[in-house]
Formats: sequence, structure tokens, C-alpha cells
Amino acid sequence: MSDKNKKITPEEANLQKIISHAKEYGFVFPSSEIYDGLQAVYDYGQNGVELKNNLKQVWWKAMTMLNDNVVGIDAAIFMHPTTWKASGHVDSFNDPMVDNKDSKKRYRVDHLVEAKAYQYEEQGFPDKAVAVVSSMNQMLEKEDFEGLRQLLIDEKIVCQISGTSNWTEVRQFNLMFSTQMGSVAEESDKIYLRPETAQGIFVNFQNVQQTGRMKIPFGIAQIGKAFRNEIVARQFIFRMREFEQMEMQFFCRPGTEMEWYNFWKEKRRNFLLAIGLPAEKLRFHDHEKLAHYANAALDIEFEFPFGFKELEGIHSRSDFDLKQHQEHSKKKQQYFDEEVEDKEKQRYIPYVVETSIGADRLFLAVLSNAYTEEVKINAKGEEAKRILLKLHPAIAPVKVAVFPLIRKDGLPEKAKEVFELLRYDINTVYEERGAIGKNYTRMDLIGTPFCVTIDHQTLEDQTVTLRYRDTAEQIRIPISELHAKIAYEVSLKRVWEKM
Ligand code: GAP
Repeated sequence: MSDKNKKITPEEANLQKIISHAKEYGFVFPSSEIYDGLQAVYDYGQNGVELKNNLKQVWWKAMTMLNDNVVGIDAAIFMHPTTWKASGHVDSFNDPMVDNKDSKKRYRVDHLVEAKAYQYEEQGFPDKAVAVVSSMNQMLEKEDFEGLRQLLIDEKIVCQISGTSNWTEVRQFNLMFSTQMGSVAEESDKIYLRPETAQGIFVNFQNVQQTGRMKIPFGIAQIGKAFRNEIVARQFIFRMREFEQMEMQFFCRPGTEMEWYNFWKEKRRNFLLAIGLPAEKLRFHDHEKLAHYANAALDIEFEFPFGFKELEGIHSRSDFDLKQHQEHSKKKQQYFDEEVEDKEKQRYIPYVVETSIGADRLFLAVLSNAYTEEVKINAKGEEAKRILLKLHPAIAPVKVAVFPLIRKDGLPEKAKEVFELLRYDINTVYEERGAIGKNYTRMDLIGTPFCVTIDHQTLEDQTVTLRYRDTAEQIRIPISELHAKIAYEVSLKRVWEKM
């Protein structure tokens, strides 16, 4: 079956709308598009970068400003290669892969099986869906690669391109990108592009604890790029090869980790609600299979256009990572806890609860949730379709647009005055070209929550029209009140109020 003849599912059609909107209105472009792009790598455009920066800022401030005991760092992408040996990524950051011999296309086995399970669910066979996933999990656990191949054949799982189940054997494939450090090839060291930001936090645990005189429990937050050679990179910016993570490691006393796990679980969900994601599109999914060192793990799943999928992970990771770094670096990673009465237990390696969310995945969640198509009856009694992004004002790329009603009679000059009043601390645009209606539409499409129009009445009484994006309602407001009103509506305070 060729890609061309493939039927598009409603989920794919919904995602396609988001992808097209993101491209058309300057949010996300395929990377190096003039050379036909690079698979699973994307660039953020003029509106996308603002939205993404706002998401990162709101996460950063929620972590560091609203928690007395969380501080931030910014570690390098390149790390000593032993880091990845200690963390387990060199030996076990693998995905089982299979190639289709006819199309030569490579797939992740778990993705193929999950797609089959999804198909079973769609066809009304939930038991079969559960059975196929649980068979796969058992085989993955035992590293039974021949069994996995047989499962693909028995389940008649075919390649989307060739339509055959002519599969190669299943092989492990490490997801880390590597490069060379040093100029002389023979002498240079192989180093990795970090596959997660978390390790930059672990290796700085002692530095931050000592220089910040941090007392346990405390957290270290970080935002930064991570790289994974995802083989089947699908679903737009959901799974990318270069992406950004926002992670926080919370160091606590052994035995208290479940308390903190539950604390962060609720706190992180509240954050997602506060930036505008609706409760019905969020759910917790406890991991059935835990890593040997973990005592609890869950995903906060979001209902993306293609169904509920992981948005954020909350993991209770015991003292695994610090212990590993202690062993490989031969540097103590202990904490001295004066508050513990039992002298024997005063020195310990802290336990860690981690919260980890992809900035790009959050971007996709927020964008797809905000995308709204409305049909309303207009003044002429006709049906009028409106597309708008109902973004929370605090994260919207542009907060306010200022327009003169017409380009004469002194209105542009007055409009520029209003623009100057707002632009220095509120992201404001000024536009004097085009009809007002079209300008409103354009602002709706990029999610601008407020538009201000300067008309002849403005010259008489110093009031302007303030239009609200979601309701299209318009009110008149004195220019003297405009800045304070908009600044409050778009402030992070509006997010904190809901947390
Ligand atoms: N330190 C833990 C860790 O990295 P993870 O579940 O592999 O855990 C955490 O990743 C989060 O990073 C995910 O919930 C997701 O939001 C984001 N993420 C992971 N891989 C990604 C990818 N290839 N593209 C975009 N985001 C990704």
C-alpha cells in the first residue's frame, strides 16, 4: 500500500489541521524546509518562539519563584562520557527495532504493536488490545527478540509502505547521538549529545547544595535541549530528535519520597490546569512496569488530537542516579542531615522525585487545545466561520494589537501613542494596513487576546475600543486605564491565581 492511497483517520485529519495552522501562521516550520526538511526536526517561527518562550517562562517561574526550596541551573549539553555509562544510557537506552525487508523502512517494535492494539480497540476488541500489549511487555522484559518478531507475524502487523510482514530480526538500537570532541580524529573522544537534561542536575547536586547551602528537601530545575535518535519519529512535534525538556529533581530524605511524589503529582497537574488545559483532557497513568530502582512512576497524559499520550512524567527514582555517579566518579554524593536524630542515619544519599515535561510536547498540547473552529450567525444573518486560538493570555505570543480605524484624520498618530504606552512591557503589535475586520481575524488566528482600536471618538474623549478575542465583545475604556487592565489580564499572576 503506498502512502498516497492510505486512508486518513479523523485523528490524523485533526492533527493535520494543527500542523497546517502552525505552519501558515508562523508557529512551527519543518527544519531546513528549502532542502525538503529533516525528519522529526522542527523550527519555531515568529509566533511559535514567543509561545514556547512563554511556556518555558511560566514553568520556570512556577518552579523557582513559587517554591522556596527549588533553584535553577543551566548545565552544558556535552557532558563527560562517563556520565552516560553511570546513568545506564550507554548500556540500556535502547529501543527494539525491526526493518521491513521489502520497503527497507525501520520501525520501533513497540510502536507497531501499540498501533495494532489501538486498531483492536477501535474495532471493539479491548481484550485483544490488552493481550497483545501484555505479550509484548513480557517479551521486552525477557529480551525475547525472536518472540517479538513472531508476534508481529502472528498478529499480521504489516509495514505501511509495502503492506507485507516480511520483517528482519529484531535488534536493539541505542537512541543517543554521538560526536567527537577534539580536533585530531584519532585522539578525539566520543561524546554524546545529552538524551535528557536530568543528568546535568545530578552531577551538580553537590555544587548546588553546598554553594546554595540548600537544606533537604530541595529541588533543582532546568530547561534545555535534549537529543534522541528516535527511529520512528511521528506526530509532528510530539516526538522529535532535537527537543527541549523542563525537568526538576527533588532531593529528599529516604522514606519521605512517596509523600513528595504525591505532592508533585498534584502540583504538576494543577500547573497544567492553570495554563488552560482542561481537566477532562488530562489523566494520570501509573506505570505498570517500573525500573528496578524506582518505587513509583506515572505519566500525566493529555488528550492530543491522536488520543491520550504522555505529556509529563513523575518518577520516584530512589538514590539510583546519585549512587551511580558516586560509584563512577569516586566522589561522595552524600548529604549530612543535622535534623535526623539517629547519628548513624545522618549521612545519606538523598532520594529523588523527578518531574519531567517536554517543552515542545507542552506546546503541542496547548496549541491543539487552543485551536477552535466556530460557526456564528453574523450581522447579515449568514453563517460565518471563525478560527481562533483560545490561548491563556499569559502565554499568548502577542498580547495586544493596536489599530487605527482608518489611516487618516490623525488616527494613526493617536494609535501610535497608545502603542508606545503599551509596548515596553507587554508584547504589542501595531498595524495600520488592512480593514479592521481582517486585522481582528488575523489576531484571532494567532491567539492575541486583546485588540485596541482608535477611532474618531478617541480624539474627542480619550477612550478606545477594547475587543476580547474569545467572545469578540467590545467595550470602551479610557486610555488612562488601558495599560493596567491589559497588564493584569496577561500577567503570570492570572496563572498563579488558579494554581
Ligand atoms: N529524565 C526523565 C526523562 O527524560 P522521559 O519520559 O524519557 O523521561 C520526559 O522524557 C518528557 O520529555 C516526556 O514526558 C516528554 O514530554 C518529553 N520527551 C521525551 N522524548 C521526547 C521526544 N523525542 N520529543 C519530544 N519530547 C520528548
